[in-house]
Amino acid sequence: MSDAPPLGLYVHWPYCAKICPYCDFNVYRVRREEEPAALARAMLDDLAAQAELTGPRRLVSVFFGGGTPSLMEPDWAGEIVAAARRLWAPAGDLEVSLEANPTDAEAARFAAFAAAGVNRLSLGLQALDDASLAFLGRNHDAATGVRATTAAARAFPRLSLDLIYARPGQTPERWAAELRQAVELGAEHLSPYQLTIEAGTAFDRAVRRGRFTPADPELGAALYETTQATLEGLGFTAYEVSNHARGAAARSRHNLVYWRGWDYLGVGPGAHGRITRHGVRHATLGEMRPADYLARVAAIGTGFPALEALSPRDAAEERVLSGLRIDDGVPRAELTALELDPARIARLIELGLLADDPERLRATPAGRLVLDALTADLLT
Ligand SMILES: C[S@@+](CC[C@H](N)C(=O)[O-])C[C@H]1O[C@@H](n2cnc3c(N)ncnc32)[C@H](O)[C@@H]1O
Ligand code: SF4
Repeated sequence: MSDAPPLGLYVHWPYCAKICPYCDFNVYRVRREEEPAALARAMLDDLAAQAELTGPRRLVSVFFGGGTPSLMEPDWAGEIVAAARRLWAPAGDLEVSLEANPTDAEAARFAAFAAAGVNRLSLGLQALDDASLAFLGRNHDAATGVRATTAAARAFPRLSLDLIYARPGQTPERWAAELRQAVELGAEHLSPYQLTIEAGTAFDRAVRRGRFTPADPELGAALYETTQATLEGLGFTAYEVSNHARGAAARSRHNLVYWRGWDYLGVGPGAHGRITRHGVRHATLGEMRPADYLARVAAIGTGFPALEALSPRDAAEERVLSGLRIDDGVPRAELTALELDPARIARLIELGLLADDPERLRATPAGRLVLDALTADLLT
């Protein structure tokens, strides 16, 4: 176990009570009543099969994401956490996160999730005013969101809130006030995401039909700056492009697993993983549709879960794409397969987009603002 990377576990719960018009995650309405329970059972089988692939590891994080995992039965989440603890050696401070939507029905189950071992809630608050929540097609209003946040802050030692900004009509002043209110509700971690119009979503169709116009890039950039300045003023560090934590202990250990290039397993429909075996990084991917995933898990032992070896170059490219998102960056020694051009790096340092650090490739805050262009420039 000594030199194998630590392990994170991602569990994808794909069901939602209502599909939001901006969302392009792998999500479904429940169509067959018995399917969710079958999925929870299949995840336990999948976990055991994947433990054969990893060998002994130190488990640092379990993350229930979705979809809406707060719609799971808390007992199912508890069984998955217990199985993961049996299959790998849990770190003393194992982080167990669950994404939740802020309806009253879900808030009523927070205590049961905490008893099942969840110690960090990531609540999809999205906005704190009714007009914005209606625009975003959410199935809760602002008062319900505040109630759920208060209940979550009581039930869990750690609370993170997701917010969506760059909504029509939003001003930097109103956004700063909303961020302050979110912090006052008891969050130690905030993930404010700029609204993205994803291809194939209801918002994509609405924009193409002229029903609304997304915020222009200048307003988006101004709201991003407002986010950084407001949260910094409240004692939060932007340790990643869209993630702000009050102190190092409040950072999401699970996301750091991705951004530091450690190994992670994915169970559930569409969940992917990265497993290092004999020094080679491998990818795993679950079937996207729940019914297909159930069929594949039923066929464990006949090629499932499948491993695909990544070339050293592909593995190093992934390190750049994920590592430049965090302020720590990536040790340059991990990027030798890329044969990065020193003159190009020197130019990006001169432009103020990369930090002048001989040990690590690190984006500056200005570089993280244009991360897609920066990584494209580095990798071509
Ligand atoms: C997978 S969702 C799960 C959270 C939970 N189901 C909920 O809706 O509250 C994770 C987060 O991604 C963000 N998100 C999803 N689609 C987005 C989009 N198109 N633009 C910006 N943020 C988005 C939302 O903030 C959401 O809370
Ligand atoms: S934002 Fe959350 S609730 Fe809405 S569709 Fe996406 S995963 Fe489901």
